[in-house]
Order: sequence, then C-alpha cells, then structure tokens
Amino acid sequence: MRLSGVLSALALALCVTSSPTRRGNHVVHEKRAMEPKRWQLVRRLEADKVLPMRFGLTQQNLHKLEEMLMAVSHPESPTYGQHYTPTEVVDVFAPSDETISAVKDWLVEFGFSPERLRLSLNKAWIEVDATTAEAEELLQTEYHVFAHESGIEQISCHSYSVPEHVREHIDLIQPTVHFAHRLPRDFKPSQQKRDFQRLGMPGAHSGPKTNGVKVLAAPSDLSTCDEMITPDCLRALYSIDRTPVETKKNTFGISEFTPQAFLAEDLDIFFGNFSPSQVGTRPKLISIDGGVVQTEDQSFDFNGESDLDLEYGFALTNPQPILLLQAGDLVEGASFNNLLDAIDASFCTFEGGDNPEFDGIYPDRERGGFDHPESCGIIAPPFVISTSYGQDEASVTNAYAQRQCTEYGKLGLLGTTILYSSGDSGVAGDGGCLDDNNQESENGTRFNPDFPVSCPFVTGVGATQVNPGSTVSDPESACMQVIFSGGGFSNFFEMPSFQAEAVTNFLTNHPPPFPATQFNASGKARGIPDLSANGANYVIGVDGELELVFGTSCSSPVTGSIITLINDARIEAGKGPVGFINPAIYTASFQKAFHDITTGSNPGCGTIGFNATEGWDPVTGVGTPNMTALLPLFLALP
Ligand SMILES: *[C@@H]1O[C@H](CO)[C@@H](O)[C@H](O)[C@H]1NC(C)=O
Ligand SMILES: *[C@@H]1O[C@H](CO)[C@@H](O)[C@H](O)[C@H]1NC(C)=O
Ligand SMILES: *[C@@H]1O[C@H](CO)[C@@H](O)[C@H](O)[C@H]1NC(C)=O
Ligand SMILES: *[C@@H]1O[C@H](CO)[C@@H](O)[C@H](O)[C@H]1NC(C)=O
Repeated sequence: MRLSGVLSALALALCVTSSPTRRGNHVVHEKRAMEPKRWQLVRRLEADKVLPMRFGLTQQNLHKLEEMLMAVSHPESPTYGQHYTPTEVVDVFAPSDETISAVKDWLVEFGFSPERLRLSLNKAWIEVDATTAEAEELLQTEYHVFAHESGIEQISCHSYSVPEHVREHIDLIQPTVHFAHRLPRDFKPSQQKRDFQRLGMPGAHSGPKTNGVKVLAAPSDLSTCDEMITPDCLRALYSIDRTPVETKKNTFGISEFTPQAFLAEDLDIFFGNFSPSQVGTRPKLISIDGGVVQTEDQSFDFNGESDLDLEYGFALTNPQPILLLQAGDLVEGASFNNLLDAIDASFCTFEGGDNPEFDGIYPDRERGGFDHPESCGIIAPPFVISTSYGQDEASVTNAYAQRQCTEYGKLGLLGTTILYSSGDSGVAGDGGCLDDNNQESENGTRFNPDFPVSCPFVTGVGATQVNPGSTVSDPESACMQVIFSGGGFSNFFEMPSFQAEAVTNFLTNHPPPFPATQFNASGKARGIPDLSANGANYVIGVDGELELVFGTSCSSPVTGSIITLINDARIEAGKGPVGFINPAIYTASFQKAFHDITTGSNPGCGTIGFNATEGWDPVTGVGTPNMTALLPLFLALP
C-alpha cells in the first residue's frame, strides 16, 4: 500500500490497535477518507479528556427507500405524486428495537452503566460521554491531537473498529475519523491549494468562475448568445414561456453558505438591464444557524455565486418569490447537513446526521458565533431547492455520504426536488485526481466525482454552451469554456434502477477507453449528471458591474427555475409538486422533451474525459430541457 504524505504514514503507524488480544471479533468500521493537508500530529489525546460520543444507529427500511421514491416519482406508477408526510417518513425509517438494543447491550457489556446512555428523541442516536481511555478501548483505536498551521487543534483517530455483530447496527460513530474543515475566518492559506475549508469560503467551493470579462453594454437581442447569456437567451434555448400564477402556494428555495452573500445593488443592476419590473425585488431570508447576508467582504469570490443564483432564479420565474436558505454564521459556517437540519427536524444534530467535525455545531459559544440552538426544522422544505455548492466525494467518508444521501431521498418522498450542480472540473475534482489509495494527489489519475451530486437521490445538473458562432437554434455542446462539466461515476453509490438502461447503453455503445483503475466501469455505479443546462458566458451583476461567469453553478438555478414553473402549472391544475424528477426524465417519453447533447467532453486527470454522445452520457446527462415539451408531460401526471 502506497501512502501519500508523511502525515498519513504517521497516523497509520500511531493508530495501532491498543492490544491485539482484546481485538477479538472487532472489524474496522470507518477509516479516514483523506489525510488532512497541513495538519501536524502533535500528541496522543489525554486519557481523561471527556468526549461526547455519538453512535448513529442504522435506520430500518432504507433498502425500500428507492422503491418508495419510485412509487411516488415514476410516471408509470399508479401512486405518482402521492408524497409522504414528515411523520410517515420518520416512522418508516426509525431504527428498529433490535438495532437499539444491540448497540445498548454492547455499550453496557463494555462497562457503561445504563444511566450514562441516552437515546435521542427520534431514536436515531445513542449518546454517551466517555473518556478518551474508554473510547479508545471500546473502538480499538488511539486518539491524537492535530495542530493546524493557523494554530487551532483538533482530535481524530485514523480508523476505528466495532464488534462484528454490532457493525450492521451502526452507521457511524463520532467523534472519530472525520477531520475538521473549520478554520478561523481570518485565516488565509499560505498556498493556493485547497484546504479543509468550509463551504462558502472563497476558494473552498465550486462556485462560478469568471474570465474577468466586463460587459459594457447589455445585449438587447439573441444575436450574441454565443458570447453572452441573458435570461432571454435561456428562454429561447429552453422554450421557457410561462408567467407564474400560483406564487403564494408555490415555493422555490436557493441555498447559499455564509460568507457567500448577494449584494442588493448587484441584483438591481441586473434587473435594471434584464428585468426592469423586478428592480427592488429581494429574496426572503431564511436564516439557518445564524446565516447572514454579509456585506463587509465584497468581491467576486464573496458575491459571485449568490448574485448569479438569485438574478437568474428571479428573472426566469418572475414574479415568484424566492426563499434564500442562507446557512451558517460568519464564524463557523455551515455544511449541507446544517441545511438539511433546517428543513427537516428529524435530521438535527444528534437526532440525525450531523458530524461535529464536518458540520457547524450550534449553539456556537466558543468563538463569538451564533449562540442559539441549532436551526432545526424551521421551515417546511420548499418544493424546489437549488444548491450550486459541492465537495469532492473523496473528501468525506462513505458512511457520512450515505447518511446524508438517505436524507435527500426522504425529501424526495416529501415532494421536494433537490438540485445540485455537478462541479466544474470535468472528471477531476476541485482538489485534483485520486491515487491508488483514493487520496487526492498531484499525480493521481483516478477520476474524482463530486458529492452530494453523486447521491442518486439528488438531481445532478451539468453544464453546456452555445458554441462560438452558433445561435440559440443550433445544438449546444458540453461546456468547454473556462470550466468543464462535472461528470462520471460515483465511487460510493450504486447505480439507481431509473438510470440503469441509460448508463448501460452508454457503456455498451460508447465504451470509454480508460482502464478500470481510472473509474468504476462496472456498469453498477451511479452515473453523474442527470441533466444539464447552459453554463457559459452568463452576464451577471456583481460588485457593481456586469461580468461574465461560467459553471454548473449557472445550470442548477436555471433548471430549478424551470421546475418551479412546471410546479406552478401543476398547482394551478390542482396538483402537487413534481418532487424527485429523476425517474421521470430517464423514461423514453420524457427524453423526447430534452435536447440530446452529442458534442464536447469533460476533460480532467490527463484525459479528454467522457464524450457527450447520443442518449445519456456522464457529461450532460439526458441533455438540456425543452420546457414547452416537458410541461404537458408533467401536467398529464396525477
Ligand atoms: C509526482 O510525480 C513527480 C514526478 O514524477 C514526483 O517528483 C513527485 O514527487 C510526485 N508527487 C507525489 C505526491 O507523489
Ligand atoms: C463499482 O461500483 C459498484 C457499485 O457501487 C461496487 O459494488 C463495486 O465494488 C465498484 N467497483 C470498484 C472496483 O470500485
Ligand atoms: C471520444 O470521441 C472521439 C472521436 O469520436 C474518440 O476518438 C475518443 O476515443 C472518444 N473518447 C472517449 C473517452 O470515449
Ligand atoms: C420544444 O418543444 C416544442 C413542443 O414539442 C416544439 O414545438 C419546439 O420546436 C421545441 N423547441 C426546440 C428548440 O426544439
């Protein structure tokens, strides 16, 4: 086994089992996904330090989740559109009594008195405060303190084990292998390389990219859509033609992660040029865990994403109000799990999936942050949520990703469409490609897909472009300007049934000339993305000017706008929202409502990436939508 970097070698060497004889039937349950960069292992953690140990119990009926989702989301299902209530969802998946007692019995047999154990309200977590010595013996591991160059410290073990008979009852245990990405706000990395930073921090997320081109005069017709995309270009490209009428009943959410924030002046510059009736329109702020629209730091990196998402979301769905799901305070920030907490009370800290290492933990008393209880189920999930943020799948553990993915599936059961941009680095990740140990490495050659888009229960959106010299009536290509559409195959998630035919066709008819060491070519892995929309040359108002931006960050809110308009029509017809759209868009009748993208590719890892081809491909999915064709199909469903 080849290890990248001294740290991982050190961590492995020091994280030995405390005593081989006590190991018994213990099996390794989780191992750190990626070795943290620029953190030094400084010492063993003090044996008497008290750790808030949390045991995430496996939920029951998860194997039925995909089937349940198909039943409410597949156009041919007799129960299409019959979404669940939140209580029904909690009841179906709560851990079984057998699971609860298996884990309790193990802890009591180990020596924790039953009074020390607590079961969370929704039965998803068992909690116990344990000393380092107890935790190390229980999990056959060693805890170490790591110091970051910024001066902050964090504890972690490299891997941990549980008895074989308990393993199936546990999703994950915290705090263990997961490494903090939380750094002080004023910390500026000394090198360009990405660090374990939180979402929303400049450089830490796959936000839109700029080529620095300023737009001096806003285009007034469709003749320059190959050089500058405007709302009118998108209406022409995707046959978007509807003015919402059910704006009070319909809901459209756009998520942003602090310190990323929109500037009111930027919205008005954009509206003034492209949607004059909306000057002065602002989103309704849903502040999650102290989420604020900060105006202190202003630059493309702080404002580009939010400005882009809101400007196009508003213009394309005018006059639909938009809910701004602004997650995280200025000190600690937030993760996708914090966002989930806010829209789904059953997922909250230690009641659901939060991980104190990856996720902002509130109240934040330590560093002057949001000193209030965590935002938990503060709003009903909007019918559509567009999120143009992501992280490399390899940067989180499989267990963490699985637990979060399940939650997206539950939101689909409730009738919410979850859209994520697929990333801007082609088949590579933001942090490069993977080596043989699945570590991001400068010499890595293995493709590195994004998460959460690799979760089959979200709808992944790739990017296309109007080719230079072409018009909106010509076929688009995969985006190959400034960014490459994120796509490929998950290293964690299995291929869901709804895309089996599409993925099999792609791999059979256009077998990619890459060795099996480069990506999971088994035909059993989840393919990314599901669909796509233009992601090149968007004119946005940002920091007082009109500027061009690129990325799947553009594609996701545009797709979210189209689904919101379709929901509007369904609500007007007395029907519910479309919810999880993947099972529908892969069917033969729906595919006719998409423009198949057959040119371009998504380079990365020293390759040209995958080719866009006839049918679904791991660059542009099933293609770009034609809303005029899509609307009657969705309207015809119950
Ligand atoms: C990458 O390859 C170069 C050239 O072969 C080598 O010098 C460097 O040490 C390698 N880096 C890693 C992290 O393996
Ligand atoms: C490919 O993906 C499938 C489905 O997730 C998985 O069972 C298999 O182990 C993966 N193969 C490799 C070589 O990773
Ligand atoms: C993409 O298409 C080109 C031209 O048809 C072909 O030469 C190449 O091998 C294909 N690449 C992949 C990754 O499929
Ligand atoms: C979109 O679909 C409508 C209805 O099927 C069709 O008339 C129109 O030509 C399509 N638009 C494009 C650009 O293909």
